[in-house]
Amino acid sequence: MFTDTHCHIFKEYFDDIDATLNKALENKVNRYINNADNISSSKEVLELVDKYNLMYGAIGIHPEYVDNYTKEDLSFIEKNLTNKKIVAIGEIGLDYHYTKENKEKQIELFERQLKLAEKYNKPVIVHSREATKDTIDTLKKYKVKGVIHSFSGSFETACIYIKMGFLLGLNGVITFKNANIKEVYKKVPLHNIVLETDSPYLAPVPYRGKKNEPANILVIAEFLASLYGVSISYLSEVTNENIARIFDK
Ligand code: NI
Repeated sequence: MFTDTHCHIFKEYFDDIDATLNKALENKVNRYINNADNISSSKEVLELVDKYNLMYGAIGIHPEYVDNYTKEDLSFIEKNLTNKKIVAIGEIGLDYHYTKENKEKQIELFERQLKLAEKYNKPVIVHSREATKDTIDTLKKYKVKGVIHSFSGSFETACIYIKMGFLLGLNGVITFKNANIKEVYKKVPLHNIVLETDSPYLAPVPYRGKKNEPANILVIAEFLASLYGVSISYLSEVTNENIARIFDK
């Protein structure tokens, strides 16, 4: 069985969540970490993890929402971190792809949430886009562990994150033609990797461009197993051990 460590399962994207999760189960995916990106999706995560036994949640504010979060939003997150089904703060981080103008504000929001992670001993699920140096420098200031979501950097960067105690989140991007991260991942030992779909985004080949769903973890797993020359069951065992090490669940 596999775990989808990063998906966005919300009513907005999935009309029939029961069917989506049943299909995942038929495809050997029996656990999911549903990631929020703002306060309204954090509220929905709390609702859904309560309803679905096999679903866990990450709540937090994504850098995309840096301009419209409030103090109350952060207290809301803090208040709900004691919920047993909330296993991480996420997805949080830095994104300089669209703008670097608000760098300082992004770092401030990231740090506020890293402080909470430290205080409540929760792992973080980190989004970092075109912001590698600042992400590393910011994370280094706190005693936190977690997952670098959708890691697609260099081998050197991978080593830095691994040394800091982070796992690398690998998704359907690895199945894309010309994905040069294949060469990077081949050098990364499997005990530093977790699988994720980032549903509804980033569907793996042959579903590229379509709506992604947790069931597709199996497609990514099969691709990775052949890349590493290991069996599917071995890959499932190692990635679940990795998850247990970080999320202790
Ligand atoms: Ni995501």
